Amino acid sequence: MKNLLLFAFVSIFALAGCNQAKPVKTIENLKGGIKGETTASAKYAAFAVKAREEGNDTIAKLFDAASKAESIHAANHRKVLEGLGETMADFTPEFEVKTTAENLMAAIEGEIYEATTMYPQFLADAKAEKVEKATKSFTWAFDTEKKHAAFYQKALDAVKVNAENTIAFDYAVCPVCGNTYEKAALDEKCAFCQTVKEKYIMI
Ligand SMILES: [Fe+2]
Ligand SMILES: [Fe+2]
Repeated sequence: MKNLLLFAFVSIFALAGCNQAKPVKTIENLKGGIKGETTASAKYAAFAVKAREEGNDTIAKLFDAASKAESIHAANHRKVLEGLGETMADFTPEFEVKTTAENLMAAIEGEIYEATTMYPQFLADAKAEKVEKATKSFTWAFDTEKKHAAFYQKALDAVKVNAENTIAFDYAVCPVCGNTYEKAALDEKCAFCQTVKEKYIMI
């Protein structure tokens, strides 16, 4: 009888464990997000070096700012992944460096993919699997990438007519969510996460 009761208890606990299924899609998406954001950060840092080589310090500053933002997104996604008891294997970011105009086009393409395809799917999965921390981290990145796409488009338009001096030179990046501002247009508190502007990273 005792053994039977014990068996019943063990069975109930085992079943309860099965109900707390791992958020499989979100774990894969977090890994994909870390890879994408880490690659974007390294790629933009290399694009900044190339822009400076071409004498284009203004565009280099934009790449610096976006690179910093992407590194914050990668770190946020990683924290969520590790909070779920998962880790991911090391990898080497792969990208190509071309001319600054071409690099801007590649950057726009990447940001638009993330903002229109990748993060909307990641967000739908995280909400369905009820992983709130992933939803927050993906939302911060999603909202930032839309701004990056707009900054890059403005920069590309300027480069095409040799008017780089018409775009911003100084940027600020929120250290918590990666939100990116032109320095001339800061919010007192980050519009995405409410961090106060004194804490922004000035680029
Ligand atoms: Fe971005
Ligand atoms: Fe923020």
